[in-house]
Formats: sequence, structure tokens, C-alpha cells
Amino acid sequence: MAPPGCERSVRPHRPRQDPKRWLKAVYLLRTPLITQIDDGAVPPDGPASGTFTSSISCITVVIEMLRHLAPAPGDKVLEIGTGTGYNTALVTRRTGPGTVTSLEIDRTIADQARQRLHAMGVRARVLTADGEQGDPTGAPFDRIVCTASVRHIPPAWLRQLRPGGVLVAPLDSPAITVRMTGTGPGAAAGRPVATVEFMRLRGQRTARPHTDLGWPADIDAQRWRDYEVHADQHGQRIFLRRDRPEG
Ligand SMILES: C[S@@+](CC[C@H](N)C(=O)[O-])C[C@H]1O[C@@H](n2cnc3c(N)ncnc32)[C@H](O)[C@@H]1O
Repeated sequence: MAPPGCERSVRPHRPRQDPKRWLKAVYLLRTPLITQIDDGAVPPDGPASGTFTSSISCITVVIEMLRHLAPAPGDKVLEIGTGTGYNTALVTRRTGPGTVTSLEIDRTIADQARQRLHAMGVRARVLTADGEQGDPTGAPFDRIVCTASVRHIPPAWLRQLRPGGVLVAPLDSPAITVRMTGTGPGAAAGRPVATVEFMRLRGQRTARPHTDLGWPADIDAQRWRDYEVHADQHGQRIFLRRDRPEG
């Protein structure tokens, strides 16, 4: 399933051979561009089949997530999933040079993004690291955004989000984007703000029973807007607002 308003395309692009077509594709609003397949096992000029493991997300989704993140000039931002560095550049443009730390697990992708951002004069820290651990040395952050989906919100992000700070991440399934506010040390609460489908963080690809992930046993995906998401160091709890637990 593609996010609402986005299309799936698996036509390979060859930027060097057909730069015009490539440039046009880069600026399409509603089409994600896949930039890596099977964690890089498929070479860039190989067949467009396999599991999509990195992309530049559908631009309408990127903008929607940033709207919910609402970073302000000077905010310290942690981004998980650098990919091409496109989102990193957009956020840095808003928050200012040296304010964004972006974590990318794939060394080749991280190196390329770092070089690309440097060439564009964008001053952001791109680290090759498992984003589930966040960046303890840079914490606390005013904003945390993840551009890959998670089944559970990693506790490190909650510890590194300042109280009152905002965390935006795709959480599945059902595939939703959640916007959470830091409520105290290591805790946050919020709501789904959109439906979306993203590739998953590497460490969260394996399916787990919903009830292990804090969802009710009888999820009603049609009512995604009515859920509330609470997370702390003990795990996450997702419930319909009318079923809000006491305390
Ligand atoms: C949808 S892409 C990100 C798109 C990116 N924001 C952009 O603007 O191009 C998701 C990225 O998350 C990365 N990723 C997956 N698991 C990760 C993890 N545990 N830590 C950091 N990055 C991870 C993937 O390698 C991939 O590049």
C-alpha cells in the first residue's frame, strides 16, 4: 500500500543516461524514489526487484511529516534515517546550520548523504549509526523525526526528547504517523496524525503480535484517528481515547 496520494513506480531511472527524465522524476510530488534494494545487495544498475530498503520519500509525505514536526529556528533536531539527505537539508534550512544530527545505519548511504550535504553547503551532522539508540551525546533534542517506520518507539528516543519536545514517527501496523510530545524524563504521549506506509528500521522488520506492542487485541484500523499513544521506559500503550486507562 502506498501512502494516500502517493503512487508506486518501479521503472528504473538511469540518471547519467537520461538526466532529463531523472530530474523530472526527482521533482514528482507523489512518487517515492527507491534508492536502494535489499540493503544494497542489488547494484544500482541491477533489476528493480527485491525489498526496497532506502528511498527518497514521496514529497507530499515529507512535507506532511515536517508540518507535524514544526521545527523552529534554533531547535536541536535528531533525524533517524538520513537516506539521500533530502529531509536533513529541509530541516537544517529551517533550524539553522549545526542544529541537525542525522543517523543512517547504512555506511554507503550515510557517506553519500554526507558528501552531498557538504557539497550543497548544508551544515548537518550525519553519523553512521543504529538510529534506535539515538544520539546520547547530542541529547536532549527539541525535535525527533524518524523517516522509517517502527513497531515500537525506541526507549532511547524517549530519553533523548526534552519534555515539551516533539517526536514524529511512522508507527505500524496499522500504518500511521504519530506525533508525540515529551511528557517527562523518558516518556511521551500523542496521537496518530496521518496514515502512511514507510520501509521499516532494520532492527524492527520482524513482525510481532500487536498485543506485545501495546495495541489492543481488537484494533479498528478505520478508527486510527481515535487512538492515543503513550510510551515510556516500560513500553508503549495504544488505546482508543474512550478506553483511556486510569492514572
Ligand atoms: C525512507 S529512507 C529515508 C529517506 C530520507 N529521509 C530522505 O530524505 O532521503 C529510510 C532510511 O532509513 C535507514 N535506516 C533503516 N534502519 C535504520 C536504523 N536502525 N538506523 C538508522 N537508519 C536506518 C535506511 O537505510 C534508509 O536509508
